Parts: sequence; structure tokens; C-alpha cells
Amino acid sequence: MTINGHTKITGIFGDPIGHTLSPAMQNAAFKAVGLNAVYVPFHVKADDPAVLKAAVEGLRAMRFLGVNVTIPHKERVLRYLDEIYPHAADIGAVNTIVNRDGRLFGYNTDGTGYLLSLRDETGLRIARKKIVIIGAGGAARGIFYAMLGMKPSSIVLVNRTIRRANTLAKAFEARFSSTDIRTSALQRGALIEHLSNADLVVNTTSIGMMGKGELDIPVEALPPKAIVSDIVYRPSKTGLLKAAEKRRLKTHGGLGMLVRQGAIGFELWTGMKAPVSVMTGAALKALKHR
Ligand code: ATR
Repeated sequence: MTINGHTKITGIFGDPIGHTLSPAMQNAAFKAVGLNAVYVPFHVKADDPAVLKAAVEGLRAMRFLGVNVTIPHKERVLRYLDEIYPHAADIGAVNTIVNRDGRLFGYNTDGTGYLLSLRDETGLRIARKKIVIIGAGGAARGIFYAMLGMKPSSIVLVNRTIRRANTLAKAFEARFSSTDIRTSALQRGALIEHLSNADLVVNTTSIGMMGKGELDIPVEALPPKAIVSDIVYRPSKTGLLKAAEKRRLKTHGGLGMLVRQGAIGFELWTGMKAPVSVMTGAALKALKHR
């Protein structure tokens, strides 16, 4: 790669940022399409709020194409942008910023990325399906919102803290009245009941990630055609997915969501079609070399 006076700049703001797979994925994509652009991780510290503001201003000053924004800046960054796309405003979080002639536009591509990956890898269409979402945090919010737009028949939000699930359900239930939205505590009895006629269960919590324990989800209660999905991608097969495979259920891991949200960002920044298979290969390789 030659960096010269014409190189376009993109990157990611986060704290911490050391583990991100996005640079490997995006730089491989630029190379594959022959674009003179780079993607650089920026450690934008969260302890002083002025730092994020200054970093965002820098995007204009230095004419970046745009950046991704990750934990813990996804919510706070909204106030520094010029325009927020409706879905990002509804979710209350931005993961992708696009710089159009000095105006900064905020998008959220996580939920859509998740649905595209699910469709590609399992063929599942959300319309009229019965869904169980485990978790009610930031990741759940994006996925829940994207799913509601596809008019599933029902969604049960299952969370350790039921109050948080109720708050999330209330935020959108009036606007998406064609979906039956319910909430439930993370208890075995309740889960068995909700899983027994589900088409899809998705874990949106970080439980199952390396060193974070395992979720105890009674997958045996699911119908044989159900799909089990986990947004955790390290390990690529969480305990939940292994348990599902043992029951011969179709599974869906988290790497595709990362790749697909990145592919949407690539397309927004460059106006070119993202080389999704190149990005998948680069993300897998970077994950292996961790
Ligand atoms: P993210 O942005 O990754 O979704 P978050 O907003 O902190 O992170 O949300 C974390 C989610 O994981 C929440 O649903 C949380 O449940 P609570 O709302 O009850 O905290 C869930 N979670 C975290 N640790 C958990 C655990 N040990 N058991 C069950 N759920 C857990």
C-alpha cells in the first residue's frame, strides 16, 4: 500500500481500541477494490468528554471520509454531528459517521448488518416470525429496532433485569403495533415457554465471550426448525451455539454482523460495492492471529 497526498482516511474511535478487527477488514477491502484509502484505529479516550468532541471536529478539519464509532462513544457522539439518520436517532446510537463536504452524518448500521448476515447465512426472513431476544442493552436495542421494521409476528425481550427489557419494549411498541412485543425475566421456566414456539433466539449479551461465562439457555425447548444466533464472535462457537448444534439446530455466529455493518460503512464512505467475501476472510484471519 502506498500512502501519498491522495490517500483518503477512515478509521474507528473507541476506548479501548486495541482489539478491533475492523482495520484488517476495511484495509483489505480498500486494497481489493484498488482504492487509495486507509482505515486507522484511534484511541479516543473517554475520561475527558472534550476529547471526543475534538476528535469529531478533526474529521472535518482533516477531511476524513468518515469513521466508525465504538464503545463507549456510540451514544455521546450524536451531539457533535450535523445530521442523524432516523434509525440512528431512534436507537440513540451512532456507529458510522460519514463526512460529506464538512457536514457530518450519523448512521447506525449494526441492526441492519445483523439482519443481512442472518439472511445470508441462514436464509431466514424476519417477517411473520416468532423471535426471542436475550438481553436489553445497546446491542439488543439496534437488533430489536431493525427487526421491528421487518414486521415479525412476535418478539420476546428476555433480560436479567426485567425493568430494562420493559423500558426497551415501551420505547418502540406504539410505533410497531403489528408485532406482539413481550418481556420476560431470564428464568428457565419462562424461557422454556417462550422458546417452545420460537423461530429464532438471539443472544445479544456478551455472555459467552472468552472469559465471560456461558448463558444457560434451554435450547432443547426449541422446535427442530428454530435458528440459534449469537452476536459474540470470539469464540466463533459459543457454548450456546455448541449446545444448539448438538440438538441439530441451525446456528448463526456473530462475525457476519461485524462484517456486514462494516460493509455498509464501506459503501457509505466510498460509494462502491463492498467486497464482502474479502472482508470476511480478512476478519477471520485477524481473529485467528489474536
Ligand atoms: P451492550 O451495548 O453490549 O449491549 P450493555 O448495554 O451493557 O452492553 O448490555 C449488556 C446486556 O447483557 C444487558 O442485557 C445485561 O443484562 P442487565 O440489563 O440485567 O444488566 C446483559 N448481561 C450482562 N451480564 C450478564 C449476566 N452475567 N447474566 C445475564 N445477563 C447479563
